[in-house]
Amino acid sequence: MENERLHIPDNEQYRELKKFISEHKKTPGPLIQVLHKAQSIFGYLPSEVQKFVSVELNVPLSEIYGVVTFYNFFRTEPIGKHVVNVCTGTACHVKGSKVVLDALTRELGVGVGGTTEDKFYTVSTARCFGACGLAPVMVIDEEVFGRLSPQKAINIIRDFKKAEEN
Ligand code: FES
Repeated sequence: MENERLHIPDNEQYRELKKFISEHKKTPGPLIQVLHKAQSIFGYLPSEVQKFVSVELNVPLSEIYGVVTFYNFFRTEPIGKHVVNVCTGTACHVKGSKVVLDALTRELGVGVGGTTEDKFYTVSTARCFGACGLAPVMVIDEEVFGRLSPQKAINIIRDFKKAEEN
C-alpha cells in the first residue's frame, strides 16, 4: 500500500532492493548495509529510493537523510560513467595531490562530487588507496595512476576519454 502511494515502479532494481531489505531486516543496524546495497543497485540514492527504504525498513526518512548526508560515500546525485578518485591521504597530500585535484576540477569544469555535463566523469576524493609509494595517486574506476603531476593527470583523463571514444 505504502509503495503504491510512493509510486514506486515495479522494476527489477526495486525488486532486488526489496528482497535484500527483507533478508536483512532482522539483522542489527541494517540501515547502512541497505543503503550501500541501494547505491550499488541505483548508482546513487535519489529521494524516491530513500523514501522506499524508509517505508520498507520502517525507519523515519529524517534518519535516512541524516545517514546519507553524514557519510561521504553515499551520493544523492547520479554519477558519471567513470569516477576519478583523487587520493587526499597523507602521503599523496604531501606529494601535491591538492594541485592535481585543482588541475582536474579546472580541466573538467566541476568541483569535487560533481559530474561533467556529458556525464562521462564524476570527480571524487578518497583517503589512501594503499599505493602510497606511487603518491600522488588517482584511481579511475579500478585503475590506479601514480606519480602524478597536474599535467600528467590532465593528459590521463583526456587520453582515457579519447580511448573510449575510439
Ligand atoms: S595516501 Fe594516497 S595512496 Fe596512500
